[in-house]
Amino acid sequence: MNSSSPILLFDSGVGGLTVLAELRQLMPKAPVIYAADMAGLPYGTKTEAEVAARVAGLLGRMAERYNPRLICIACNTASTIALGMVREVLETPIVGTVPAIKPAAALTKTGTIGLLGTQATVRQGYVDDLEREFASDKTLLRYGANDLVALGEHKLRGESVSVDEVAKAARGLVLQVGGEDLDTVVLACTHFPLLEPELREAFGKHVTFVHGAQGIARRIAHLLEGERFSFWSKSFAVTTGELDDFRRLAGAFERHGITRLKRF
Ligand code: DGL
Repeated sequence: MNSSSPILLFDSGVGGLTVLAELRQLMPKAPVIYAADMAGLPYGTKTEAEVAARVAGLLGRMAERYNPRLICIACNTASTIALGMVREVLETPIVGTVPAIKPAAALTKTGTIGLLGTQATVRQGYVDDLEREFASDKTLLRYGANDLVALGEHKLRGESVSVDEVAKAARGLVLQVGGEDLDTVVLACTHFPLLEPELREAFGKHVTFVHGAQGIARRIAHLLEGERFSFWSKSFAVTTGELDDFRRLAGAFERHGITRLKRF
């Protein structure tokens, strides 16, 4: 393995920064290419076929262009739809991001767990399988809160996002039958931890939020244990969308050690 070969973190937008933040704790200087499919954002309102085509096509091209040592699909929507198919065609090791139902099931006291994801994620068979395996004795309430994705994007561009807006976008989870018993909510979209302070305020102190970013970062670090990195090869971020818009995120990327932003 070439020591300048980077880790590729892929998301439809800025959600993957929640994974990068945790990865930086474990591997502060590893070269990372952050790839945002801003031209395809949001994934959560797309069909399975649309998401699969974009993710497989882009990751294939990116793997060829950047020769990453590992790809992390830092997006629940893309992972629950396309992880298996991308793994079949690429030789690069791939770490996915799947809803943290297992830890939530271990935490809940009331036995009622909420799953807040995109509309596309909450309807996946992948989620049915996780529910069957880890939460068959619990009640799992699902809600597709697509509007939270845009709010996370706005927040990282420095725009103001109110607790009211966040509460409105997530309210459908609590309004379901049994919603008053929720004590644990899985943030099953990498954008949502960006809004954790607002979500905490909106849901109240009795609700604990769980997401997978830390576990994913640990998994990446474990898979790359013992590998050499040349620290002079710099991290950067690419977008499939407009560079002018991407540059509005410069501050957010800089907080994670990325100062070069380019078009893919
Ligand atoms: N960040 C992505 C996820 O984890 C989804 C955002 C989108 O709808 O594009 O599901």
